[in-house]
Amino acid sequence: MKVLIIGSGGREHALAWKISRSPLVDKIFCAPGNAGIEKHAECVNIGSGDIKGLRRFARDNGIDMTVVGPEAPLCAGIVDSFEAWDLKIFGPAQTAARLEGSKVFAKQLMERHTIPTATFRTFDSADRAKAYIDMVGAPIVVKADGLAAGKAAIVCRSEEEARSAVNRIMIEEEFGDAGKQIVIEECLKGEEVSVLALTDGHGIALLPPCQDHKPVYDGDEGPNTGGMGAYSPAPVLTYNMAGIAEREVIIQTIHAMNREDRPYRGVLYAGLMIQEENAYVLEYNCRFGDPEMQPLAMRLKSDIVPILMASIEGNLADMEIEWHEGAALCVIMASEGYPAGYEKGEPVSGLEDVEKMDDVMVFHSGTRSEGGRCLTDGGRVLGVTARGADIKSARKLAYEAVGKIHFQGAHYRTDIGWKALGREKSGF
Ligand code: AMP
Ligand code: GLY
Repeated sequence: MKVLIIGSGGREHALAWKISRSPLVDKIFCAPGNAGIEKHAECVNIGSGDIKGLRRFARDNGIDMTVVGPEAPLCAGIVDSFEAWDLKIFGPAQTAARLEGSKVFAKQLMERHTIPTATFRTFDSADRAKAYIDMVGAPIVVKADGLAAGKAAIVCRSEEEARSAVNRIMIEEEFGDAGKQIVIEECLKGEEVSVLALTDGHGIALLPPCQDHKPVYDGDEGPNTGGMGAYSPAPVLTYNMAGIAEREVIIQTIHAMNREDRPYRGVLYAGLMIQEENAYVLEYNCRFGDPEMQPLAMRLKSDIVPILMASIEGNLADMEIEWHEGAALCVIMASEGYPAGYEKGEPVSGLEDVEKMDDVMVFHSGTRSEGGRCLTDGGRVLGVTARGADIKSARKLAYEAVGKIHFQGAHYRTDIGWKALGREKSGF
């Protein structure tokens, strides 16, 4: 069969690599792809926002299944558009992708269906939002309603910071229309975990829990990024907590979406805050995580293609999904200055040395090839991912590989996985 992958990041590289290992697949295309994806797929120059162009490409090239990486095309209705032409596509329809596309919608859905989340209020007026901040005080979290490339949530330690977050979002319109409404919510303490589940709207398959590292510097210091590294499994989610998260969040959310006539299909990603025996939803995403997909792809033992197809066709309950024992861990190598401004076009060296290593994959996030060379082309550049018997050995191998790769100004965290070390036995 022929598969089309949409996107150009590390998540899409991990998908392309895993799909390329399926005996069912003869040909993979990726739109638009990157220098790493080129090794597994034919990259085609159509942007992930060009839904009509992508649909035409899928029809004209006899694509049997399309897999969408990023949220923007899902929220813009790519699934509905492909299905109108009877093209098979993995992901939620536009009405269901609203779970990620609107934080106001997501919070109100949780309230209607008693899904545990931080106490909140929504506002469309900056003055009223600031009056609320004066009343409840800090710390507090201010979030733009719409999509903002993972930067929509501002955790504020003081009332001053919170008022300035409201100004940034609603007055200066830093995130454009995404900031027309805001959510202001209670700041939760605890430890975060990413719980992803595949679903066809009825059947549910929970994936092993992952932990992302959002802040740019070691020790969780500095501004939030798209994610500086991830590992799986995440022992913060004990067996007991995994059951709670599945029942109270994942199943509840999928039922809630069915009850509201927004059947959810694809992958549901719940970002949770774990506090003792409780799990609170911080956010929903309507797609695989980046970088969570990188360790998950390396841990997945089963062929991914029938699994994705089962979500599309509604047979997920019949699928057996096998995972490799042990753990996998991904270290992101980023451009100097990320998540603020950074240079592009720096040559990357050492990739061939890492290719010789067993159990290591370098998933490209922001690269392009030019004259046979690999150049940096984004904030997050590479996701160096290793598999091992446990987090400690996967981590050692990943950092050994990172040490062999060079580009001008490369920045990476040196503490990926630190919260898991020493407590692996408790996890799932
Ligand atoms: P979001 O875009 O909603 O996932 O938020 C991004 C990050 O902001 C999360 O991964 C958390 O680190 C942090 N965050 C979001 N909401 C809260 C909250 N209510 N309490 C504490 N931290 C939060
Ligand atoms: N790693 C966070 C995300 O994919 O949104």
